[in-house]
Amino acid sequence: MDVCLTTDSLRTVLFSKGKKSSIGFVPTMGALHEGHLSLIKEAQKDNDLVVVSIFVNPTQFDNKQDLKKYPRTLDVDTKLLRSIHCDVVFAPTANDIYQHEIASKTYSFDGLEYAMEGKFRQGHFDGVGTIVSRLFDIVQPTRAYFGEKDFQQLQIIKKLVEKNKISTKIIGCKIHREKDGLAMSSRNTRLTKTHRQAAPFIYQTLQKAKAKFQKESATKVHQWVYEEFHRNKHLDLEYFEIANISTLKTISRKTKGTKYRGFIAAIAGKIRLIDNIALN
Ligand code: PAJ
Repeated sequence: MDVCLTTDSLRTVLFSKGKKSSIGFVPTMGALHEGHLSLIKEAQKDNDLVVVSIFVNPTQFDNKQDLKKYPRTLDVDTKLLRSIHCDVVFAPTANDIYQHEIASKTYSFDGLEYAMEGKFRQGHFDGVGTIVSRLFDIVQPTRAYFGEKDFQQLQIIKKLVEKNKISTKIIGCKIHREKDGLAMSSRNTRLTKTHRQAAPFIYQTLQKAKAKFQKESATKVHQWVYEEFHRNKHLDLEYFEIANISTLKTISRKTKGTKYRGFIAAIAGKIRLIDNIALN
């Protein structure tokens, strides 16, 4: 496995592997877990060569403390990637990636960016768009793999590729969960014992909301989720939204023939967790 710490060394390694290979790319911020590995395994099935990037992208963090405390475990991550026969790891510095100025470009994602994460994390998707464009430019992947765990991000990346006529195919991958249902996340390691025990409530509530959505109105389901969280001492609900899966417009009334997902962001102590579920 090649470990490249600079853009130049990555370009050299990719060139030496031959231009004809299909490249599967999995961008990450490291602190790798089974969720990340499931994306890498998908990429290995479809491509001749798999590149994983590990870069904690400063421009997508709206909260300085969150950026500072984001787990950085490059040595452990590298060992893990070697054990699953990943081909290339790209772990650049911020100066290498951003060169002159660590700042985002401004994007329009045709409204996908306004609700939910876009509303609660100012500038987040401009940061994601900036880093993913830059990484695609460097890696030139045939296919790139993103988790449905960050469903809004996945839709935004598809839009980014479509609007900028990037030839990379975007593949969405299922959410990988702990046995108790908690969606795997690099942030889970920062939960206190109490909050870790409380956190599966998020997915349990999403599952119940899905069952209710079959027979009750969107407004009722919405209200019910807020009441459930109100009773929970350990988790603060930031939002629950029901949104059209294509436009990500949040709704209070269902339309026949439209597909919806339920989205939650909740704070467990100092840690912000997100999850989502297909409702129909
Ligand atoms: P990160 O949070 O490290 O996630 C990297 C990729 O792994 C994303 O596509 C994310 O959706 C996916 N992922 C995380 N947890 C998952 C789970 N439990 N099941 C399935 N997939 C999961 O998302 C980012 O990094 C960054 O925003 C990035 C795209 C790398 C840009 O900086």
